[in-house]
Amino acid sequence: MTDSRSYGYTDTLSAEHYARALRADIRDGLARTPKTTAPKWFYDAWGSELFEQITQLPEYPVWRAELGLLQLHAHDIAVRTGARSLTELGSGSSTKTKLIIEALGSKGLRYVPVDVSADALHQASTQLVQEYPGIIVHALRADFTAPLVLPEPPGDEPRLIAFLGSTLGNFRQPVRGPFLEGLRSIMRPEDHLLIGADLVKDEREMLAAYDDSQGVTSEFDKHLLQVLNRELDADFDPDSFDHVSVWNSAERHIEMRLRSRVEQRVKIRELDLAVYFALGEEWITESSAKFTTDGLQAELAAAGLRTDQLWSDTGAGFALVLATAR
Ligand code: SAH
Ligand code: AVI
Repeated sequence: MTDSRSYGYTDTLSAEHYARALRADIRDGLARTPKTTAPKWFYDAWGSELFEQITQLPEYPVWRAELGLLQLHAHDIAVRTGARSLTELGSGSSTKTKLIIEALGSKGLRYVPVDVSADALHQASTQLVQEYPGIIVHALRADFTAPLVLPEPPGDEPRLIAFLGSTLGNFRQPVRGPFLEGLRSIMRPEDHLLIGADLVKDEREMLAAYDDSQGVTSEFDKHLLQVLNRELDADFDPDSFDHVSVWNSAERHIEMRLRSRVEQRVKIRELDLAVYFALGEEWITESSAKFTTDGLQAELAAAGLRTDQLWSDTGAGFALVLATAR
């Protein structure tokens, strides 16, 4: 019989921890004006699957643009970093990561995917150990918005920390600095950080990427309501909300919002709460910052991270930055 779990797995998010954090975030977020909640709650098994579907949409070039840059530059990334240890934050399906794994050489490579989605971690890890004999995978279920404790690579083995997909953009600007400083604090001189970032482009293109014609992004957005119904015994009716995407030019991010189609009061029994929504009231469920190459490098520099190399695809509007803490 073959070993069905030939990878390590550490879960730092117990069911109680998850439930407590969800209750606190939803109670706090729905009391704000405008109502604003964290995007991490989208990603249960179905939410992770919906994100995978989004990556294949013609209107969502973000994923393909980064794939294209990795196809061109993974070899250079491997040469520059010499990494034998790869940690990836928000790894999801790890599909694009395979290009980095292959460039670094999978045999004996330590790969630590970090994600909140247990299902995404299991699926990706199972596939990777099957596809790359000799790779050492240790999946870590953790919330990267909380202080991160990452397993140390043995000795002075150079490590590459990857944060792809422009997921950095899902942090609001004021918290990106402290997050990057936190990463810097755990990086050793021989380590590198690789960030994928979507760039500011034509407003219509950016809006369409978050409001596709097939309605997959709308389903993803409304999936949050199903998560809250299931986890918090709430009675959100997804049909009583519209999905909208809005470009917030002051903060340079796209907002996904759920707009209430009616005046309503929604019961959230686990919170002992009835939440009022006015007709047309909008709830921000995710913000997705769009960067400039200069702005991103300045944010990195402010956190003590020096750009080693930047690759960009100005046509598709995406950049990869390799940085060190030196
Ligand atoms: N890097 C992949 C997936 C991006 S989707 C790609 O580029 O295709 C964002 C991923 O981050 C999801 O897998 C989601 O589960 C994970 N995620 C979102 N918020 C998180 C958090 N606070 N902590 C850890 N993982 C998180
Ligand atoms: C994971 N993250 C970078 C995606 C984004 O573009 O903000 C999530 C997403 N939301 C809607 N579409 C994709």
